[in-house]
Parts: sequence; structure tokens; C-alpha cells
Amino acid sequence: MNIQTVETTPIAGQKPGTSGLRKKTAVFMEPHFLENYVQSIFDGIGGVAGKSLVVGGDGRYYNESAIQIILRMAAANGAAKIIVGQNGLLSTPAASHLIRLNGTDGGLILSASHNPGGPNADFGLKYNTPNGGPAPENITDKIYQATTTITAYKIAEAHDVDLTTPGQARIDTMLIEIVDPTADYIALMEELFDFPALKTLFASGFTMAFDAMHAITGPYAHAILEDRLGAPAGTVLNGTPSPDFGGGHPDPNPIWAKQLVDIMMGKNAPDFGAASDGDGDRNMIMGRGIYVTPSDSLALLAAHARCAPAYERGLLGVARSMPTSGAVDRVADKLGIPAFETPTGWKFFGNLLDAGRVTLCGEESAGTGSTHVREKDGLWAVLLWLNILATTRKSVADMMAQHWAEYGRNYYSRHDFEDVDADKAHALFSTLRDKLPSLAGQSFGPLTVSSASEFAYDDPVDGSHSAAQGLIINFDGGARAVFRLSGTGTVGATLRLYLEALQTDPAALHQDPQVALADLIAAAHTIAKIQGFTGRAAPDVIT
Ligand code: G1P
Ligand code: ZN
Repeated sequence: MNIQTVETTPIAGQKPGTSGLRKKTAVFMEPHFLENYVQSIFDGIGGVAGKSLVVGGDGRYYNESAIQIILRMAAANGAAKIIVGQNGLLSTPAASHLIRLNGTDGGLILSASHNPGGPNADFGLKYNTPNGGPAPENITDKIYQATTTITAYKIAEAHDVDLTTPGQARIDTMLIEIVDPTADYIALMEELFDFPALKTLFASGFTMAFDAMHAITGPYAHAILEDRLGAPAGTVLNGTPSPDFGGGHPDPNPIWAKQLVDIMMGKNAPDFGAASDGDGDRNMIMGRGIYVTPSDSLALLAAHARCAPAYERGLLGVARSMPTSGAVDRVADKLGIPAFETPTGWKFFGNLLDAGRVTLCGEESAGTGSTHVREKDGLWAVLLWLNILATTRKSVADMMAQHWAEYGRNYYSRHDFEDVDADKAHALFSTLRDKLPSLAGQSFGPLTVSSASEFAYDDPVDGSHSAAQGLIINFDGGARAVFRLSGTGTVGATLRLYLEALQTDPAALHQDPQVALADLIAAAHTIAKIQGFTGRAAPDVIT
């Protein structure tokens, strides 16, 4: 094999964020950009000589070209074996499963998740460790370090590998196994859930709409919901992946999955609605006439997980990211199991899952998952919901009403201010941080601050410390506002304001969340001077 050693110099801005490196596609396609980062991953993990890796992506623009480069670089760096999805495709949870199933030395996942795709949109790459989960900070720090000192990368001179059919290929001695992206994942789902019960549910006339948003879950959803479980053809909408996700944002929330929302809120809505994102790890859950927030969904899944064979012996514990509502904590309390609060980002759940401290975990950003893989998993959440509905035979709306009556309702909303000038966003943030110690006791409208702090996390498993993970303002009565700056954006800064208030009065459980949270929203704006700093009186996206 002819190996080229290409001299290069560090490229600024290759610091992995909440979920790997995300940049504009055009930036990833600039000379040496991808190659520098891939070599830095290899160097940051101690080289790949003799190692095996899983490689796959969500099919967005540049996916396959990038994979061809990664294959040639892996060969040049001495990798023994690469397992790659047919046509370069793997959903993020399926990639996590393949890493675990085959015991590889980790994997490379090409995705910018729910961000739009295309030549003028976003691209991303992240390394997952041998447990199948996103690399923790001690590893991403090493990768970043390597990007700042790189002097050369290695790449094999070889033709593109034909990835169109499952089978084996080689670049010199490196074996490339091309696998059906759905097969092993479907087998795993079949182990976890009661497929016969789900078949019976669909056979009894239960109806569903699943919006794959022109993204990676299309083939998985067709195969599971329609082919295996017998849901009628047409249950899966937008089920053919496209490089630019049909020109949309593959983000399963009420704003971007409006087609599904219109169906579920319309006349003759199906019994159940769900959507997943670009790379298949997120989920949105709806019932006829009702949207279920991800925080509520996590709580409900925790309360009823025993309906599914995989969890029938109960849960070891639950975890949620700090900005996620405390609804699941209330369920854990009742079940008598521990509830953990971690920083934002799936990588923080890895240690808890590996150590057997938790079985279920989730984030307010539409991510839910369990011990079955080390990523959040969109279709898994949909199947767990289906398993619960197959057991209870209740509507989604009734399930939620019953849940709120039992546990109270954590009214919740996230307000995003997107593409804010980065300097202004940072000024808002540091001003607010400085103000935190003086806030307790101050009143804003009817609300009085009880405490305010910056969130930091000490990992109970490995003792690692993560500082500066968001600003929390708590109010008397249990309401809270949380401020964070996004770590996944590719332009300017995105300010996230998370709002939550617990309501236990049975007469007040069915309000519009924006109305129920109005005083809190006003207080948050006043305290942080959002308009003063950003010029924005209202958020761009409310979820
Ligand atoms: C966002 C979400 C976070 C999620 C991450 C990766 O990160 O808020 O919960 O883990 O995407 O999917 P953020 O942009 O807020 O840093
Ligand atoms: Zn995603």
C-alpha cells in the first residue's frame, strides 16, 4: 500500500462541543480540515494500529465522501478492521450498538444530528468509545490537544471502496465489513420489546404516524413498524433519507415537525404520533390532540417501563440532564430508586449506565435512552411507548392526565435565541453569572428568588469534575429558570432559556405551558436583560 504522509498545520476551531465537532459543511470540505481532525482523533486515542472501528453516518451531504477519506486514513494508520454501514449509513444508536456488539475499539459517527444538511448547511464528526458512547471530556480534550499540534496526517492511495452492497472489501490488509445498517438494530429491539403484543395492537386497528423527517430512521421505521409489526403502509412519513433532509430541519419538535403536529392535532388524527431526527437518536411523542414534552415522556416511560420485557424487573435508577424537568425525579422518588442530575450532553450518562447505577436516562432536548446502547435512541423510545400503550390500552392523553394527577405537572418550556452575536451572548452570560450571588431574596413580579448558582458536576463514578454547566435561578414555590449557551451551534451563539414550574393543584393541570409559565418568563427576561444584551424581545424557537 502506498501511504502518503501529508504535511499540515493546526486548523483553529477544531474543539469538540456537546457532541463532537460540528461545522458548516463547506468548512469540513476545506483542504485538510477533515483529514486534520480524523488524524487528531486517531492520535488522541493513542493511534488505531491493529484496532477495529465502526464507521457510519446519517447520510447527509458529504457523508460518503468523508467516509472514503476516513477509510483510507484508517488503513494508512494501520487499522485492522472497519465495520461500515451499507452506503455509509448508520443511525447513531445503531452505530453505538454495533460498537458494543462487535467489541470494537470505538467508532466514528458522521452527523450534525438535527442540524440541517447540504452544501450550505452543517456537518459533524464524533468519536465514540468502546462502550458505544460519545467520548468523555478527558478524551475529547486529548483529541483537541492533538488538533493544535498536528504536523502531518497519513492517507493511503486507494480507490473508493464500493459500499453499495453488504459484504467484505479491503484496503491493503485492512478489512472492511459492509453491513446492513438495520439488521442488528432490529434484532436488539426485538429482544427488548414484546413484538407479538405490538403486532396485536396494530392488528386491532391502532393507528400511528411516524415522521422520519427525510432522515436516517426512514429505513429502520419502515422495517420495524410496517414490515415487522404490521402497521399499514403509509404509517412512516418522509421515510426516504435525503442528503439535505428534504430541505428541512430534521429536528423533531413542534416547530420543525409541523406536518406531524398538524396531523396529530387535526380531525381523524391517529392514536399515536412520533418523529425522529437526522441521525435517529432523538424522538418526539404525540397522541391524538396532545404533544408530550420530552421531560414528561421520560417521566412516563420511567413510571411504566415494566410493561416492556427488557425492564420488567424494574429500574436501577434514572438520570436526566440538569435543564430537563424534575418530573422523572418525582417518579424515581415514588419507585424508591436514585435519580441523577448530570450536565447537558449524552456523554455524561455513560459512566452511570456502565456502572449499573441507572437504567433509563433522558434530556429535555428530545433524547431518551437506556442501558441497551450508549446513545439516546429515537425509535427505541417510540417502541417503549408502543409497548406501554399495548399493555395499558389507554390513549396518550389519558396516560398523561393520569400521570399529572398522580405526580403533579412540571410545566416546562425551552426558549431559544438563535444566532445571537457571540460577544453579546457571552456578555449577557458573564453579567448574569456575576449577579447570581446577589439574587436570593429579590422579587420579580410575583416571584421571589430562593437561590441562584452555576451548575457543576462531580461524576459519582469516576470523580471527574465538570464546571460551568449552566446558570440556575430557583424561585420560592419550586419554579426555576436555567440559562445555557449551546455547544452544538455552528453560527453565532444560541442562548437557551429553560423554564419549569411544578403545579400540583388538580384544577390547574391542563393549561397552555406558555400561560402557566408567563410570570417566570417575565422574571427571567428582567433578571438577564435579554433584550438589552441581544436586542431580542422574544425567542426564535419555543419548544
Ligand atoms: C443540544 C442539546 C443537548 C444534546 C445535544 C446533542 O446541545 O441541548 O441536550 O445532548 O444537543 O444532541 P446544546 O446545543 O444545547 O449544547
Ligand atoms: Zn441526533
